[in-house]
Amino acid sequence: MANENKLQAIIAHAKEYGFVFPSSEIYDGLGAVYDYGQWGVELKRNVRDYWWRWMTQMNEQNIVGIDAAIFMHPTTWKASGHVDNFSDPMIDNKDSKKRYRVDHLIEGFAETLPKDQGDALLADMDRLIAGDDFAGLKTLIENNKIKCAVSGTCNWTDVRQFNLMFSTEVGSVADESNTIYLRPETAQGIFVNFLNVQKSGRMKIPFGIAQVGKAFRNEIVARGFIFRMREFEQMEMQFFVRPGTQQQWYEYWKEKRMAWHMTLGIPAERYRFHDHVKLAHYADAACDIEYDFPMGFKELEGIHSRTDFDLQSHQEYSKKKMQYFDADLDENGKAYGNYIPYVIETSIGLDRTLLMLMSEAYEEQDLSTAEKQDSRVVMKFIPKLAPIKLAVLPLTKKDGLPEIASELMQECKQHFKCFYEEKDTIGKRYRRMDAIGTPFCVTIDHQTKEDQTVTIRYRDSMEQERVPMSAVRNIVQQAINE
Ligand code: GAP
Repeated sequence: MANENKLQAIIAHAKEYGFVFPSSEIYDGLGAVYDYGQWGVELKRNVRDYWWRWMTQMNEQNIVGIDAAIFMHPTTWKASGHVDNFSDPMIDNKDSKKRYRVDHLIEGFAETLPKDQGDALLADMDRLIAGDDFAGLKTLIENNKIKCAVSGTCNWTDVRQFNLMFSTEVGSVADESNTIYLRPETAQGIFVNFLNVQKSGRMKIPFGIAQVGKAFRNEIVARGFIFRMREFEQMEMQFFVRPGTQQQWYEYWKEKRMAWHMTLGIPAERYRFHDHVKLAHYADAACDIEYDFPMGFKELEGIHSRTDFDLQSHQEYSKKKMQYFDADLDENGKAYGNYIPYVIETSIGLDRTLLMLMSEAYEEQDLSTAEKQDSRVVMKFIPKLAPIKLAVLPLTKKDGLPEIASELMQECKQHFKCFYEEKDTIGKRYRRMDAIGTPFCVTIDHQTKEDQTVTIRYRDSMEQERVPMSAVRNIVQQAINE
């Protein structure tokens, strides 16, 4: 399936089967804002929980979690550099009045060119962005005759910077001193709590603080479904290290995060690392883990060596010491003493992870035989992440079969998410479960009454097997634990 078609098919499927809906759809939706439906929310929760357990429970490093508020003191964003630097170069088309992020406009055009010409154009763009050369970017757009998709003209304004933070007022009087921001990243909630956690948890460096939560960005060109949203969720971890060891920890987290991705059942060749050409104001090294989305390889996760920029800056603005006392001895037998730790950050979008999982799982299969036409859409989620693990399906609504089915439900629902359904033919019920990605269906039939066995049907192979009803819970549990 062509890539653009695949994305469209996933968007339609996500809506039809209760994964993702456009926000406030009855009012025609709100640009780049989405709601998760009944199965999307389960998938999201499973990914979030898995990431959380991997970071804070299964990790060989000492990592604890926090849950900071979305609203933070406005000076936080001055100190972090977001007030002054969190902006993208934009350009407006004078005829359509449509605004574009310059890099997206040029990237979109580069995709229409033969590969070598597209690559050369992107290299020029990277160089100009790295040098903050806005006049050069405008000339590049004009020389390549890049048109606005709406007006079809090349009538462009100058390139300007636009801040991406949403602001609002706190309290009843609207003046500038009451302006606060919706956080554009969760990381700052971790930095401002660094000493609270370190002291209350008696944490010894190196250690990490993890957080999952909403972030907000006024993305000008928001596209790609849940790839680029104005309200989204991040899963971030800041790892505090001794100055001078950051390079080694940066390499460590690159490797560890890629190893996490390998546990999602996605082939290695669908990922790649991409080193940043232009480093953010806080970083001394940075790369992305990119995934091959239906729109091509794009950023999924960022790994950044953030130096001591954030803690230094919060110390300066708050006038509160951000130092850590390290009693360990160096090679000369002297305590390392007081210092401001360096930070390695891993930051992954939860919504982007869901788009990756849905893209990877989505499969349209032609099951036609000589006798009849048939097809199915199946979402091949790994059992650990699947929204529903087990569907319990009595063959008919009578003869005591629902009662036996509900016994199995009672046993299994204590341990994992189950779904009970008695309507429609078994074939139709299987197809609905395939479309949601349920790895196991169990059918209770008349033979169950005789010998307490059931038919278990495996989603991916569609094979069916007769097993004792008492074995079902273990079969499912083992698959979830893999
Ligand atoms: N604290 C560092 C930070 O926020 P980032 O590269 O701007 O770095 C990290 O964002 C991750 O958050 C990205 O790799 C992406 O997965 C996700 N993300 C960023 N902007 C997003 C948006 N508008 N919609 C959905 N996810 C987004």
